[in-house]
Amino acid sequence: MSHAALRPLAFTEYVAERRADVDAALDRWLPAPPDCPAVLAEAMRYAVASGGKRFRPVLALAAADAVAVANGGDDEARAAAIALALPLACAVELVHTQSLVHDDLPSMDDDVLRRGQPTVHVRYGEGVAILVGDGLLAEAFGLLARWPATAEAPDAVPRKLRVIAELGQAVGAAGMVGGQAIDLAVTGSCGPHRAGASLDLAALSDMHARKTGGLIRAAAVGGAIMAGASAEQVAAMSAFAARVGLAFQIVDDVLDVEGCAATLGKTAGKDAGAGKVTFPGLVGRDQARLMAIEAVADAEAVLAGAGLSSPYLTGLARSVVHRRD
Ligand code: IPE
Ligand code: IPE
Ligand code: MG
Ligand code: MG
Ligand code: MG
Repeated sequence: MSHAALRPLAFTEYVAERRADVDAALDRWLPAPPDCPAVLAEAMRYAVASGGKRFRPVLALAAADAVAVANGGDDEARAAAIALALPLACAVELVHTQSLVHDDLPSMDDDVLRRGQPTVHVRYGEGVAILVGDGLLAEAFGLLARWPATAEAPDAVPRKLRVIAELGQAVGAAGMVGGQAIDLAVTGSCGPHRAGASLDLAALSDMHARKTGGLIRAAAVGGAIMAGASAEQVAAMSAFAARVGLAFQIVDDVLDVEGCAATLGKTAGKDAGAGKVTFPGLVGRDQARLMAIEAVADAEAVLAGAGLSSPYLTGLARSVVHRRD
């Protein structure tokens, strides 16, 4: 990442540059033989390097950047904020990839296609896919603890501790894993709790906030914290990203109905077949899209109210509604 990269950029160029930052860092930080068995290293890279939009890590970097700008930072301060947030951005992508690998397992959504290629359990077997998920989750937290190195950025240590707590909360039992458990309960796949639960709109929003919103919120909040955001700025970033996260899963549910595997890179039409409760299922596709648009408009208003508006954060929020995959 160079300072030249921080000249005013069009949204798509900015996203491409931040994606490149993330991809290069992931490549550097993912374990490799002889530190770990070759099969595990290969399968972890297969899962992570397969692409994906990198929405969450780019959001983390754009959030750090927006805080630097709001606090009067020049190009150098912006680049420093982005660099400080890079380990968090990568950790978020590792956790996200873990959630996808496990979400696709036969005992969960039983999916054979992800990011346009065979899922990890199809390619490497179920045991390795479980270990890939375990490994990615552990590596995510290890990465956050190690980087940025204390000697290079002593001020970052207390920030990192807060970010680790935020991420753990977002993806733990009260967050993503809890949301996935509710998802399983709805389809009657929860052992003794077998009766398929039904969800009203409030309960569905709660499930989405946990299983998808939490990690998106942690990405933005984590980026803001690493950039030295004030309590008010953190609160605004949290409110912004919670709304964006809800919209993200609403649109994911709509795309499952409207999309096709060639564009989505994953199997379409899974949710209805599996008996999932979804926004389009509950309120219809048009209303669901409207709710996503409203959530994003609300998100933008919250940011503007806190003086944190940035064309990149706004662009990312809007991309959630317009995306095709
Ligand atoms: C898919 O996430 C899973 C959800 C939480 C909805 P993404 O749509 O961000 O998947 P990738 O990373 O681009 O493959
Ligand atoms: C996935 O939700 C949420 C998590 C992975 C935590 P979905 O099951 O709807 O995601 P896709 O559609 O398989 O990507
Ligand atoms: Mg699922
Ligand atoms: Mg799924
Ligand atoms: Mg889905």
